[in-house]
Amino acid sequence: MKALVLAGGSGTRLRPITHTSAKQLLPVANKPVLFYGLEAIADAGITDVGIVVGDSEAEIRNAVGDGRAFGITVTYIQQRAPLGIAHAVLIAREFLGEDDFVLYLGDNFLVGGITDVVDTFLTQRPDAQILLTRVARPSEFGVAELDGTGRVVGLQEKPQRPKSDLALVGVYLFGTAIHEAVRAVRPSARGELEITHALQWLIDHGSDLRSTEVSGYWKDTGNVADMLEVNRLVLETLEPRVDGEVDETSEIIGRVRIDAGATVRHSRIVGPAVIGSGSVLTDTYVGPFTSIAQGCRIQDSEIEFSIVLKNASVTGVGRIEASLIGRSVEVTPAPAVPRAHRLVLGDHSKAQISA
Ligand code: DAU
Repeated sequence: MKALVLAGGSGTRLRPITHTSAKQLLPVANKPVLFYGLEAIADAGITDVGIVVGDSEAEIRNAVGDGRAFGITVTYIQQRAPLGIAHAVLIAREFLGEDDFVLYLGDNFLVGGITDVVDTFLTQRPDAQILLTRVARPSEFGVAELDGTGRVVGLQEKPQRPKSDLALVGVYLFGTAIHEAVRAVRPSARGELEITHALQWLIDHGSDLRSTEVSGYWKDTGNVADMLEVNRLVLETLEPRVDGEVDETSEIIGRVRIDAGATVRHSRIVGPAVIGSGSVLTDTYVGPFTSIAQGCRIQDSEIEFSIVLKNASVTGVGRIEASLIGRSVEVTPAPAVPRAHRLVLGDHSKAQISA
C-alpha cells in the first residue's frame, strides 16, 4: 500500500498567516500539521509516500526532506497548478502504479491516526473507503448523503444546501478503480477536478464504496478559533519535559514542554503549554493551551490559550488571550502620549483592542 499526500495548492490564498507560506506547515503544538499526517501514515505501516507539491515546493522539501526522519521514503510529484484533488491523483498515476493507496490531504488532522481505517480497508478491500465526520458548517466541505442502511448514495462538493452534516474528511482509501474515475470527471464550477465527483462516478458505476464515521477531525479553514481548539486538543496529550533552562525564580506547573535552548527567567508557566527552542521568556506568565514556537521573546507579559509563531516578540503589553501571532510579529506598548494604538497589520488580519 502507498500513500499520496497533497501539499500543493496555490501559495496565494489570502488568509492571515498562510498567505505567505504553505498551509500544510502551520504548526499545531509547535509541529507542522503535515508532520502529523506523515507520522500517521508511517504508523499505519506505509513507507512509500508520494507528496504532491505546487508553489511552495521548496518550503515543503525543506521541512520534509527525503522522509527518513519519519521512517518513510518520499517521492515528490510536481503539480503545475492546483487543478484539483482528482487532478493530483491523475498526475500521480505512474507513482501509484497498481497499488492500493491512502490519499491524505496535507492540511487535515485526524486525532488517533489512520491505522484502524487502513486495517479495515485491507480486510474488506472495497474500491474506495471514505471517512465522514459531523461538522457545524457542512457547506465548507464535501458532503455525503446516506440511505436508511447507512450506504453512501450521493456526494456533493461544498453544497449551498447540504443534505446532511456529514462532511468528507480529507483521508480516502482507494483501490485501482479510482484511476478510471479521475480520468472521467470534468472540471467543476470552481475549475477543479474534484475528488468528490470521482467518488460520485464510482457510486454511479456500481463500485463498492464504503464509509466510516470518525471524530477528532480538524482541517485548516483559516479559522483562528478552530486552530486554537486543535492546538488545545493536542497539548492535552503533551509529554511534560524540561530540556531548556529554567531559573530558580520561575515556576513550571502541570504538563509543560520546554525545548532545549529555550530560557525561562522569573516567569510562571501553567500547562499544558510548549515553549520552542531559542525562545526567551522573562517576567512572563504563560497560561494553559499555549504554544510558543522557536526563537520567540516574551517579556513582561501574560499570554494564555494562544499560538505564537517563530521569532515573534511580545513585550510589556499586559494580557493576551485567544490569539494567533504570526512569524516575526512584534507586539509592544505604544508611547504614553498620545494615547493611541499603532498598528501594522497584514492583509486579512484581525485586531481586538481593549480600549
Ligand atoms: O479537507 C476536506 C475537504 O477537502 C473535503 O471535505 C472536500 O470534499 C475536498 O474537496 C477538499 O476541500 P478543500 O476545498 O478544502 O480542499 P483544498 O483546496 O483546501 O485542498 C486540500 C489539500 O490539497 C490542501 O493541502 C492543498 C492540496 N491541494 C489542493 C488542490 C485543489 C493540492 O495539492 N493540489 C490541488 O490541486
